[in-house]
Amino acid sequence: MAAGRARVAASILDADLSNLAHAVRRVEKAGADRIHLDVMDGHFVPNLTFGPRTIQALRPRTRLPFDAHLMISNPGRHVDDYIAAGCDSITIHVEVQELEPIEPTLRAIRAARRAAGLALKPGTPLAALEPYRELLDIVMVMTVEPGFGGQTFMKDVAADKLLAARQLLRHVPVTGEVHVDGGINRETAEFAGAQGTDVLVVGSALWVKGHDMAREIRLIRALADEGYQYGLNDGEPPIPRDKWTTFVSLPKHIADRAMAEIENGNIPVIVLRGLGGRINPDGVRDYEVAVPLSAAELTTERHATARDAWLAEADAWRERLTAEADARGGAEAASGPGRNGAEARIPGR
Ligand code: DX5
Ligand code: ZN
Repeated sequence: MAAGRARVAASILDADLSNLAHAVRRVEKAGADRIHLDVMDGHFVPNLTFGPRTIQALRPRTRLPFDAHLMISNPGRHVDDYIAAGCDSITIHVEVQELEPIEPTLRAIRAARRAAGLALKPGTPLAALEPYRELLDIVMVMTVEPGFGGQTFMKDVAADKLLAARQLLRHVPVTGEVHVDGGINRETAEFAGAQGTDVLVVGSALWVKGHDMAREIRLIRALADEGYQYGLNDGEPPIPRDKWTTFVSLPKHIADRAMAEIENGNIPVIVLRGLGGRINPDGVRDYEVAVPLSAAELTTERHATARDAWLAEADAWRERLTAEADARGGAEAASGPGRNGAEARIPGR
């Protein structure tokens, strides 16, 4: 797993199309984070690639997530096939709204618990996404005209849309992703990173004969992180996306409630059995409610007051439990044979 913030989605568009199984294995070995699958129908774009059957056949060949980019005119008709083929995220083009309603397609993707995305051609303004905002996990900004790999990065489009796209995803503060697709290589990755881009789609730059693909991926990711560090993060290195931090430690039943409440605001939570810390009167340790480090500030902002209430509730619960145990212990000590009340209270300890 990559240490930094930026993720590389490797497009296999420019791979050897006669051996895609080899291509996905090679990309995985080279350390890519995802596989970007460019589906073209010869209608929405003047080029034709592969469809859901090919994707399904590739699915068992790699463990990497499949990131489908559907450059097709009627995604609504086919979306179920791409879900069934095992795509982890499915991005369709907002321009197809001229031809069919796209809201049901986005809803279908989300109902299948895959990430739903909308992509924009270079000439389409970001405002076109506004009506669908709440249904989006991904905004894919295209910095070339869709259809072919190996074109030149449109820097002005990137400058115009990438950072602004972040705002559209504020309802998914941690899991929402801005993708950039088209012309990403060593020369352009730093700029994309400085615009806060989460996922860089890289095609032709990975398939240059004689280039070390793993090194190319490492360089592009590192350059994007450099860009982020010096463009947006006051020179601080970006926090790895997979680091977790404990927001609060609570008895299990309260921890579960805290998790539900925090996740309600689209911040992912894991509840871990506490390893250190307090052992409760029922003999069970507190659980840790952990959030991604990158969301720690936001979680505090939103839930600091609730945290005080959860902690107070936990104290009250512990006191009640102790008082009940004492009352029981007192009664047992008075009648039972045990010399030591505490031992009698918790058998087997
Ligand atoms: C273009 C595709 C891109 C393409 C990127 O229509 O959507 O994903 O493969 O290739 P490069 O990185 O060469 O621009
Ligand atoms: Zn693409």
